[in-house]
Amino acid sequence: MKPLIVANWKMNPITLAEVKNLFNSVKNGIKNIKNAKVVICPPFVYLSNIQYLKSNIKLGAQDCFWEGKGAFTGEISPLMLKNLGCEYVIVGHSERRKLGETDEMINKKIKAALSAKLKPILCIGETGEERKQGKTFKVLKNQLKNDLKYLISNIYYLKSLIIAYEPVWAIGTGNSCEPREAKKVYLFLRKISHQLINSRASYNSEGICSGSANKLLYGGSVNSENAASYIQEANFQGLLVGGASLNAQEFIKIVKSIDPAPILQNNCFAAHGGRIGQSRLAGQYYSY
Ligand code: PGA
Repeated sequence: MKPLIVANWKMNPITLAEVKNLFNSVKNGIKNIKNAKVVICPPFVYLSNIQYLKSNIKLGAQDCFWEGKGAFTGEISPLMLKNLGCEYVIVGHSERRKLGETDEMINKKIKAALSAKLKPILCIGETGEERKQGKTFKVLKNQLKNDLKYLISNIYYLKSLIIAYEPVWAIGTGNSCEPREAKKVYLFLRKISHQLINSRASYNSEGICSGSANKLLYGGSVNSENAASYIQEANFQGLLVGGASLNAQEFIKIVKSIDPAPILQNNCFAAHGGRIGQSRLAGQYYSY
């Protein structure tokens, strides 16, 4: 399984010339990369321009609406994204949640994205305050439960759903989550996502899975210094990169830092059976 490195350009850059420059620099810089899959999520308005700059970089969008078409001024349909060549779509980013997006809306968006055969990248994460109060696991579990409600019986290709753990306090702050702490969250999310999504993967006693399981990504102040540790130490299957993806050289370094990725071997640990959930994960910030 190759790690997935997703660039979230957010509301940048301002001109098409900068977009082409950034995209082409990244494209050239990673052309020999074999062990990572790179996705770029530019603002909607640049998607078609980028689609024509052929490369092996995959395209993603930063959001979508939950209806396929109709009188919804200003919205973008998942079907439009699919037809434009997008493979991925970020849903529920904390910057959108801050603007009023609710779990109910996110739930509808995920259903619509999956129906359009897009791979949704669902972002979840606790705020700094919630973390201080020891509510990290509770918040993440609630977000997942609400965002993924009623999906299981409706849609059977749920394996394409990707979950990104993005602690809100780490986004754009330079204050990334320590890999050791992120690993605890990883183990928790692996267990919960397995329960909720009912993935078909099976696990050995070490928690190494065979078969396919949903990818879990880490995001929040990722840079070329810390990128590899989230994959190699914390076991995530990829990264969601914001600020650092706007600097071509830095982003290329991030991708190169995990290529080759020596220990990513379906290492999607499932904290089955409660033992890890109750003892290793329990603690000030991790009780649930
Ligand atoms: P950051 O953003 O890398 O700038 O912290 C990550 C994100 O918001 O997806």
